[in-house]
Amino acid sequence: MLLIAKFRGVSPPEVSSRQIEVRELRPEELPWVRELAVRAVIHGIPGSRDIPTTEVQRRADQAFGDLEFAFRTDPGFRILVATEANRLLGYLMLDLDHREASTGETQALIRDLAIEPAARGSRAVYVLVRQAARLTYQHGLRYLVGEVTAANRRPLVVAQRLGFVIERHQIAVQCGPDGLLPMPGRLGPESSRE
Ligand SMILES: CC(C)(COP(=O)(O)OP(=O)(O)OC[C@H]1O[C@@H](n2cnc3c(N)ncnc32)[C@H](O)[C@@H]1OP(=O)(O)O)[C@@H](O)C(=O)NCCC(=O)NCCS
Repeated sequence: MLLIAKFRGVSPPEVSSRQIEVRELRPEELPWVRELAVRAVIHGIPGSRDIPTTEVQRRADQAFGDLEFAFRTDPGFRILVATEANRLLGYLMLDLDHREASTGETQALIRDLAIEPAARGSRAVYVLVRQAARLTYQHGLRYLVGEVTAANRRPLVVAQRLGFVIERHQIAVQCGPDGLLPMPGRLGPESSRE
């Protein structure tokens, strides 16, 4: 599913009494982002696929090298972190040079987003997304988009509360020698445990 927010008319999220702050990631914090990104990538695996979780996590770890390079060299690629009393709660990766496939508009894309399991429910995600929206606007862009795996209800709940709308659905089918087959599905409950 592709989610998009247009800034006018987006209602504010719930107010939290916690002292959560958001800032740009420091280079020395990259290993923490990498470790959390690899742990959390399992939430992005469609429930219809039987790929082993360890393989997806290995690929995510390898792909992190490109993200690190973009973070160090590309001013249009940002990583924001939410902190509380100097403790890292979560991160949001933002690509400020993404193009919408159908309209050709340049827009901002949330490339990845995760909150430490112990900090889920802290409202840090709202602080991160709100700051990503401000950066998007400051960059002269009108829209902020993200992709959410259908089985991953948590970010969808958050996004819709923030005013994101569903713009697109991804469809998939397995193919065999005689045509279409049902998708295989996940391997078991342990395959989606973080
Ligand atoms: C997605 C994520 C960033 C959201 O942050 P969070 O701190 O967990 O969000 P919150 O707890 O504030 O809100 C999630 C809401 O979804 C609800 N929720 C949880 N599981 C749900 C489910 N299966 N179905 C429907 N709602 C669900 C929660 O109850 C909560 O609502 P509430 O505030 O009314 O209790 C975080 O869960 C995370 O890091 N997940 C793993 C990585 C990930 O999925 N990243 C997103 C990629 S698009």
